[in-house]
Amino acid sequence: MPKLTYHGHATCSLETDEGVRLVIDPFFGDNPVCDVSVDDVEADFILITHGHFDHIADAIPLAERTGATIIATFEIASYMETKELTASPQHIGGAVSYPFGRVKLTPALHGGIVQLPGGEKYTSLPAGFLIDFESGQRFYHSGDTALLTDMQLLKGRVDVAMLPIGDRFTMGPDDAVRAIEFIEPEVVIPIHYNTWPPIEQDAEAFKAAVGDRAEVEIMAPGDTYGF
Ligand code: NI
Ligand code: MN
Repeated sequence: MPKLTYHGHATCSLETDEGVRLVIDPFFGDNPVCDVSVDDVEADFILITHGHFDHIADAIPLAERTGATIIATFEIASYMETKELTASPQHIGGAVSYPFGRVKLTPALHGGIVQLPGGEKYTSLPAGFLIDFESGQRFYHSGDTALLTDMQLLKGRVDVAMLPIGDRFTMGPDDAVRAIEFIEPEVVIPIHYNTWPPIEQDAEAFKAAVGDRAEVEIMAPGDTYGF
């Protein structure tokens, strides 16, 4: 079963039983709640939902040191290839099989400017990831997004979902509950909250609001969860 380690904000790593290591939305150095330095993280694949700094900031140093393959939209993947990094471009609705499982990019409603050192900035579509692990577990990281009726299409296809609850820039707790009603996952891990004061939320209150719709796994940075 994949082992998930939460690093705070929207950043997590996953390791499969076969030892394949994934990092989603690498944001370590400037992440005020992060448990680990980017220098201590290993990766075979780096998945990036969108180009906002709080999702992409450490992608280049992590990819340079580990040689990991970057999985992202065509625009972000193409940008990474200009930095002589290895990337696997995809786009929303398309799936690709990798040694750990199959990754499909899902719609997200959010901004998409790419912010990286050097001042290069352009816009691209944000995305989420639906990962069907070889071992059978189905995992969804929504990325930064508003509540979408498209999430109804995920019903019955997700075991564990990471959903933002921070409000202001993404879904807040109320809309995250509605997203759970759409998706019907077994387990929900709330993310993208309590990183900074503008996205402070009470995760226990969220858990109470979810009730018996799903099991809510509240993770602190550094916590691990097997599923
Ligand atoms: Ni964002
Ligand atoms: Mn964000």
